[in-house]
Amino acid sequence: MTEEIDLTSSPYTDQLKKIHDAEYDDIDFEYFCTSVSRNPSCIIVKNDDDIVMGFLIWGYDIDFLDDECGTIVYIYSLCVGSEWRRRGVGSELLTHLTSLYGYSNDVCLHVSIKNDAAIKLYAKHKFKNVRRIDYYYDGETGMYSGEGQHAYYMKRSSKDL
Ligand SMILES: CC(C)(COP(=O)(O)OP(=O)(O)OC[C@H]1O[C@@H](n2cnc3c(N)ncnc32)[C@H](O)[C@@H]1OP(=O)(O)O)[C@@H](O)C(=O)NCCC(=O)NCCS
Repeated sequence: MTEEIDLTSSPYTDQLKKIHDAEYDDIDFEYFCTSVSRNPSCIIVKNDDDIVMGFLIWGYDIDFLDDECGTIVYIYSLCVGSEWRRRGVGSELLTHLTSLYGYSNDVCLHVSIKNDAAIKLYAKHKFKNVRRIDYYYDGETGMYSGEGQHAYYMKRSSKDL
């Protein structure tokens, strides 16, 4: 079951944090709740027992690689609990985002160039690799630092749907 939640007040936020922290020991989950400046929104997939299997955090942002600096939907984080992977949860999250906002907005994200699973997932959902950005990731926030791991900037145009 897919649901939109408020990250700052949802009873599911603790479950999201657990999924997040099991995957990333170098990015602070609180960053998404308190510091992302453009009001992040969140979609979860949960099972019949109210267990969260995965989440997607997104917000409106600026496409900084676009000359016109257009508004886009930006995916800040997408994560599926390790025990729930390869069951379509990641796809369900992206499909839900698309059904709500994807037909009227381009959607963008950064992904580590080493993350084959995520790159394949995004490619399946019609995202295209726009540019490689070397030393993109910052350990604490997962956002740009100019020092960390390399990333691809991927984008899906609403026109391609
Ligand atoms: C990437 C991630 C979100 C995928 O979630 P998921 O629920 O397992 O993905 P789905 O089951 O919906 O898979 C959809 C498609 O993605 C691709 N895919 C997903 N996981 C894959 C893997 N481990 N290897 C290869 N392809 C993979 C496949 O094309 C798959 O379709 P298929 O099952 O028909 O072959 C999940 O592995 C995850 O949370 N990883 C850790 C966090 C992360 O890397 N997030 C992305 C940050 S940008």
